[in-house]
Formats: sequence, C-alpha cells, structure tokens
Amino acid sequence: MEKIKVSLGENSYYIYIGYHLEKIKREIEKLNFGNKFVILSDKNVFKLYGEIIKKTLENKTVHCIVLSCGEKQKNFNNVLKIINQLVKFKINRDDTIINLGGGVINDIGGFVSSIYMRGIKYISIPTTLLAQVDASIGGKTGINLKFGKNLIGTFYQPSLVYIDLNTLDTLPYREIKQGIAELIKYGVIKNEKIFETLEKVKLKELKDNYEFLVKESVKVKVDVVEKDEKEKKGLREILNFGHTLGHGIEITNIKKFSHGDAVCLGMIGESYIAFKKGLCDNDVYIRIKNLGRKFKLKTSFEKLDLKKVVEFMRYDKKIKKGNLRFVLPEKIGKVIPGVEIDEIEIIKILEEIKKNEKN
Ligand SMILES: NC(=O)c1ccc[n+]([C@@H]2O[C@H](COP(=O)([O-])OP(=O)(O)OC[C@H]3O[C@@H](n4cnc5c(N)ncnc54)[C@H](O)[C@@H]3O)[C@@H](O)[C@H]2O)c1
Ligand SMILES: [Zn+2]
Repeated sequence: MEKIKVSLGENSYYIYIGYHLEKIKREIEKLNFGNKFVILSDKNVFKLYGEIIKKTLENKTVHCIVLSCGEKQKNFNNVLKIINQLVKFKINRDDTIINLGGGVINDIGGFVSSIYMRGIKYISIPTTLLAQVDASIGGKTGINLKFGKNLIGTFYQPSLVYIDLNTLDTLPYREIKQGIAELIKYGVIKNEKIFETLEKVKLKELKDNYEFLVKESVKVKVDVVEKDEKEKKGLREILNFGHTLGHGIEITNIKKFSHGDAVCLGMIGESYIAFKKGLCDNDVYIRIKNLGRKFKLKTSFEKLDLKKVVEFMRYDKKIKKGNLRFVLPEKIGKVIPGVEIDEIEIIKILEEIKKNEKN
C-alpha cells in the first residue's frame, strides 16, 4: 500500500494506492470520524462495490444514496436530491460522506460536501482510471449547467482518497482509455518514465503496470496542486496540455468525441504546433501519436472542422481575435506554459496535419 501525502496546510490529507478496499476500515478508524457515514455512488458502482464498503463499516451507521450513471447526473436537481436525503438521515458536521465511483460521483459528491451545512468531511474512493489519476486529486468539485460543463463548483479537499486498483478490473476498456489519455499527458508534462512505460507495455499487460502508472501520475498532479491549490498562480496551467485544443475538439464536433479521444487529438495537435514553432523535435509528435494509436484513442484529424475548433478556443478563452495560449512540449517530460500563437497560424499548422495524413 503506497501512501502519498498532499500537503496543503490544514487541508492536508493522504492518498492511499493499493489493492484491498476492505483495508480502508483501518484508515477510516485512524481519522476518528465518528459513527455516521453516507455512501454516495452510482448504480453500476454500488452494485459492484457498495456491499464491500458497507460491510467494512458494519459497526457504524451507514446510509446510501445511489444515483443513475453518467455525465447527465452532474446536475442541480441531484444536488438538491442528495441534500434532502442528508437532511432526512439527520447528517451533520460530525458525519462523513464517502464518494464511491468515477469522476461524476467525485465531482457532485465533493460539491455537496462543500456546501451542506457550510461544509462536511468527505472521503473519495475513485473507481475509474480517470478519477484515480485526475478527478479525485486536487479538490475541484462541480456540476454542469445546460450552458456548459462544471460552471458551478468549489475547491474543497477530501479527508482521504483511497484508490483500490482492483476496481479497474470491472471497468470496460472504453472507460480505461479515458484515463490513459491523462496518463500520456502526465508523461509529457513531467514524467518521461510514465510515457516510456506506456510505450513499452503490451496492451494485455497494462494491468501489471497500473500501480506504477497511477502512483506516478498522482504524484505529478499532487505536486502541481500543492504549489497552486486554488489555481491562482497559473501553475496548474501545465495540466492543460492537450486540453486547450482538446476542449475545442470535444465541444465543436457533431460526431461526438469522448474526453479521452479529444485530449489525445489535442496532444497530437499541440505537439505538432510545438514542432513547427521549433520548440521540440518531430519525434515528440510521432511518439504521442503512436501511443494514442496503440491504446485505440482517436488520432486522425480528417473529420475535424478546424476553423470551428479554433473559433471555439477563442470564445472559450474570451479572446477577441489574435493570439491563443498553449502549453507546449519541449521534450517528453517537459513543457513550456503560456506560449502565445496567432490563431491563423494555428489553423495553418493543423491543416498541415490533415494534409500529411492523406499522403
Ligand atoms: N474534479 C476534477 O478535477 C476533474 C478532473 C477530470 C475529470 N473530472 C470529471 O470527471 C467526470 C468523468 O469521470 P469518469 O470518466 O470517471 O466518468 P463516470 O464517473 O461517469 O464513470 C464512467 C462509467 O464507468 C462506470 N464505472 C465507474 N467505476 C466502475 C468500475 N470500477 N467498474 C465498472 N464500471 C464502473 C460508471 O458507472 C459510469 O457508467 C467528468 O464529469 C469530468 O468533468 C473532474
Ligand atoms: Zn482531461
């Protein structure tokens, strides 16, 4: 069992990475959190792991709230529904919410924890690769509005994050892929060993490397979060590698791309931009593209309407016209934040990727 401390003054806590969900009992006991817990989960995850957690806490009072599955559940109605349940269960600030699930449960559960009675304690048990390496780390909580994703939210740290890598055994590969895109990102921005491991490993043997990949990725994110907890110093910006372009691709394309596919295309595009601007070798672009292909993420720009994508990025960053800001790779393991490039040049460079694909 690996233990990583997140040092944030009075908001500090530990992230445990290992294999046995039952062992969470010991860590919860250590926190001395009283006798009442609420497990918040979605239908899929509760069916698989709800009973294990309930059994682990058999000497406590445990209530359960189970939502339907998927991104649409991150809405305000569910926030009210959860809060009404908490009131019904007479939950107060001595009690604890346990978020058991992927990024959706983590985000809405964290948000409710931050506002219910002006904030109550919560524990995260992330069960998707994406939630283990990204959504459960860093204290960002949120829900969606019909105008856009994560428009309401807070920064609110958990008291404990418990990652059981065995939960990934039941996760379909299309969901594993979502996390792999983020692993590639962590490799490029700060840890070439993550990247090289992904290059070396056979798809069938990926599972044997989860412990190393998750641990190293969590460390990268923790390091960034510790330096800039509330995203005020611009240091979290490096986590946006692949996401500036990726977000534009995710939002503007009619044929819907998953977040992981869009980020993969974003990383390919942004590394090609870096190459064309003389910041890195062509090799960086090629290696990222090869990794994307190996893990069955989208790698072709063929169907993208690049003008629309760039227009969205301008709108997203509230820029009238002119320069867009990117995090670009210098080599695998190192990026340069805050690189500004003219939008017309961006379209030209991205069109070139499309053209190269045809040849
Ligand atoms: N707060 C942050 O910093 C942050 C960072 C990145 C992403 N996010 C958010 O995370 C969300 C996406 O998270 P996600 O990809 O985990 O999606 P998700 O929570 O919807 O989970 C994906 C699917 O997998 C199922 N599932 C979860 N764990 C399982 C398991 N172990 N076995 C079988 N099925 C399982 C779920 O029921 C769901 O159907 C988005 O809303 C995004 O905005 C937040
Ligand atoms: Zn992402």
